[in-house]
Amino acid sequence: MSAEEVLEFLKEVHHPAKQDRDIVDLGIVQKIDIKDNTVTVTLGFPKQRDPLKKYIVGASRACLIRHLGKGVKAEVEEVEIEAPAASKGTEFTKETLLSVKHIIGVASGKGGVGKSTVAVNLAVALARLGYKVGLADADVYGPSVPLMTGTEGYKPVAEEINGKDYIVPLEKFGVKWMSIGYFADRGQALVWRGPMASNALKQLILQVNWGPLDFLLIDMPPGTGDIHISLMQEIGIEGAVLVTTPQAVALADVEKGADMFRNENINKPIFGLIENMAWFTPEEHPDEKYYIFGRDGGEKMASVLGIPLLGRIPLVQSIRENADQGTPAALSTRPDGVAFVELAGRLADAVKVAGDSTVKSHKDN
Ligand SMILES: Nc1ncnc2c1ncn2[C@@H]1O[C@H](COP(=O)(O)OP(=O)(O)OP(=O)(O)O)[C@@H](O)[C@H]1O
Ligand SMILES: [Mg+2]
Repeated sequence: MSAEEVLEFLKEVHHPAKQDRDIVDLGIVQKIDIKDNTVTVTLGFPKQRDPLKKYIVGASRACLIRHLGKGVKAEVEEVEIEAPAASKGTEFTKETLLSVKHIIGVASGKGGVGKSTVAVNLAVALARLGYKVGLADADVYGPSVPLMTGTEGYKPVAEEINGKDYIVPLEKFGVKWMSIGYFADRGQALVWRGPMASNALKQLILQVNWGPLDFLLIDMPPGTGDIHISLMQEIGIEGAVLVTTPQAVALADVEKGADMFRNENINKPIFGLIENMAWFTPEEHPDEKYYIFGRDGGEKMASVLGIPLLGRIPLVQSIRENADQGTPAALSTRPDGVAFVELAGRLADAVKVAGDSTVKSHKDN
């Protein structure tokens, strides 16, 4: 039984007062939790009373019982949600980000290119260079920061400041980490939908007491959807770096990623391209480089996109092993660790140069 299957079942439940649209389509289904023999569905209703709430909760429970069969327990919970309207933005303000100098999205057009690996290692490398760094894992569908940093099982705590609750980020390797993964148990199937996904994300960034930071990196979810756009608008990302692999076929995806930031509604600078898995180096022959995917892919892509190539990271077994062990490669003095530290230095420079030119162009105007 997967969360996606449960979601399919729930499409049979319709809201009689909303042109009979189904509750999935309406964004009422917030969360599906599958654990042992229990399926728990969380339904969200706006604060103002929905007179059909009880009906929908009952109909959802009946629908689950019908489909799940014997031996599986069905639970339906309801939570109050904010109306997904713009009013929401006023509740989470950017207060916590006032002391953050640079908010940078780490993005890619396509999944699986090593975006999270690069983001986590960049954060650690920036910290090694003496910067104050935070990383928010905004990949609500597949958070990887807990595993990659060995912080699985961390349960976030809140602290009250001036009558408001803030989430305390976890500190390790000199970096402040926050991930949606800290709010779920390991192996728990979690599906976030609609406003809940966006709200969870906003909270993950705006309600965290980051403190003073030079850089806050945001590991963006793969793709180029609505979540990205709302994230960039509400958080106020300064710009982005794009991660790619060298294959020519990846170019189209990287262009998609770049277009997202260059879109007139977003219009944020791309500080540069990072070529991951640029070559392969076998562990037993650390001096050898095999350009499996061709040699200058990253360079060509960068020039087509008109952005600098910030760095190239090799495909080496230790990067993957370190990620799986929760000790990022950037902590090491091996060539791959050094590559991340050099990359971090060039990113910091690129961000500063971009900042200076904005200041200049403001003055010119
Ligand atoms: N340079 C590298 N050398 C070796 N392994 C790597 C390298 N970069 C990434 N990997 C491995 O490749 C896998 C995918 O990487 P990662 O999870 O960072 O990709 P992603 O782009 O964030 O994926 P998703 O789109 O699912 O978020 C991981 O197992 C990671 O350890
Ligand atoms: Mg990822």
